[in-house]
Amino acid sequence: MDVVRIQGGRPLRGEITISGAKNACLPIFAATLLTEEPCVIENVPDLSDVRFMAQILEHLGATVERPDPHTWKFTARTLTTRAPYALVRQMRASVTLLGPLVGRLRRAEVSLPGGCVIGPRPIDLHLKGLEKLGCFIRMEGGYLHLDGSRIRGADIFLGGRQGSTVTGTANLVMAAVLAPGTTRLESAACEPEVDDLCKMLVQMGANIEGIGSHVLTIHGVDRLHGTRYRVIPDRIEAGTWILAAAITRGDVTVRGANAKHLGAFLDKLDQAGLTVLVEGPETLRVRAANLQLRPVDVITLPHPGFPTDLQAQMCALLATAPGLSIITERVYPNRFMHVPELQRMGADIAIEGSSAIIKGKPNLSGAPIMASDLRASAALILAGLYASGETWVQRVYHLDRGYEKFDEKLRGLGASIERMNAKDMPSDLQEGE
Ligand code: EPZ
Repeated sequence: MDVVRIQGGRPLRGEITISGAKNACLPIFAATLLTEEPCVIENVPDLSDVRFMAQILEHLGATVERPDPHTWKFTARTLTTRAPYALVRQMRASVTLLGPLVGRLRRAEVSLPGGCVIGPRPIDLHLKGLEKLGCFIRMEGGYLHLDGSRIRGADIFLGGRQGSTVTGTANLVMAAVLAPGTTRLESAACEPEVDDLCKMLVQMGANIEGIGSHVLTIHGVDRLHGTRYRVIPDRIEAGTWILAAAITRGDVTVRGANAKHLGAFLDKLDQAGLTVLVEGPETLRVRAANLQLRPVDVITLPHPGFPTDLQAQMCALLATAPGLSIITERVYPNRFMHVPELQRMGADIAIEGSSAIIKGKPNLSGAPIMASDLRASAALILAGLYASGETWVQRVYHLDRGYEKFDEKLRGLGASIERMNAKDMPSDLQEGE
């Protein structure tokens, strides 16, 4: 298991290029099951989650090729309908297999995804929508058994307690594209990753209206064909680099990022005193050497609101902003596992219900800390880049799920960061057996 050691206090400088979006790739890979023809997906990030999804598709019977590290080719001629627990439990996004399997093969047996550290993640909205489409759903032995022999277009309201659902919308769109009749999804998610999936499906011959809005209308077609599709850049990775430049008071140009996907985030940074420069259609620049950070209040919401996947990283930045900031988590009310670790570095943060009350201060000190999930690990590394002294971040395998060569790219920007095996850490820092 790897750890990283960071020597803080160095401003990041230089250029970084953004990879393709993980959260677009995963459902897009699943969507290739909707046709027996080859689909070539480009601009795919080299991440463990992505490789894992490809492994699941192979297990289901698809032929999987990888012409180059960022391009994958899938040909799903004949498929089995069963996605086993051993695979599904390792990655929640595999729940997006339900839609394409029942959509194309009219049946599916998919293990129910397990728990998640960021909080309860039920799939009741996915199942409600699939039932509305006429699927019979039976839960047995930890598996969802779907019979879609009578699947048919329907009107579905997809809003939940926390608003719309991203993978729920993806699942229902994929189940509806080959279903006879018309499906109208109200309160659908309109994250850029959902738009990307819909655009690829249209390229495969699907008939979808309202892409980019909260109402999607899908007119079922008889079959879909293969395609070649380029995935959008990862807005969460772009936001993470922008915050890395800001917290180190550096000067970084972020290439390949789409500012339109980051509206609420860039607006919030502007309120906090950091104006990110748009230097071209896909080029953003952070010049933070003289940044006078101001405290701000942040509320995470479904898109186009402030993304929950940038909340932890923003929390790390606001821990260094003099004054009182409040972050309220409306998407995952308990998503604050990074806070106790930031407190270990001297951050003054209190959790009140689903809010973090942050009294920002100029000094954080390096410490041994533990990553609990993907975005928390990025936030802890950002705090380590800012803190004085040495920070050891353990369990960085979380990072590799969503960031391609993160520590390598940081070194390219002048950071003092080193990855090593946990066994090589000073013995007094090592996790007990
Ligand atoms: C997607 O998860 C992303 N994952 C998450 O990114 C992201 O945090 C999330 O959307 C919100 O933006 C992928 O795209 C693979 P949701 P998803 O269904 O689809 C509740 C990362 O770091 N809900 O939109 O699973 C749910 O509990 C990951 O890259 C129900 O109540 O999220 C949550 O509170 C982490 N019932 C809220 O809605 C349901 O049936 C939003 O969940 C479905 C969801």
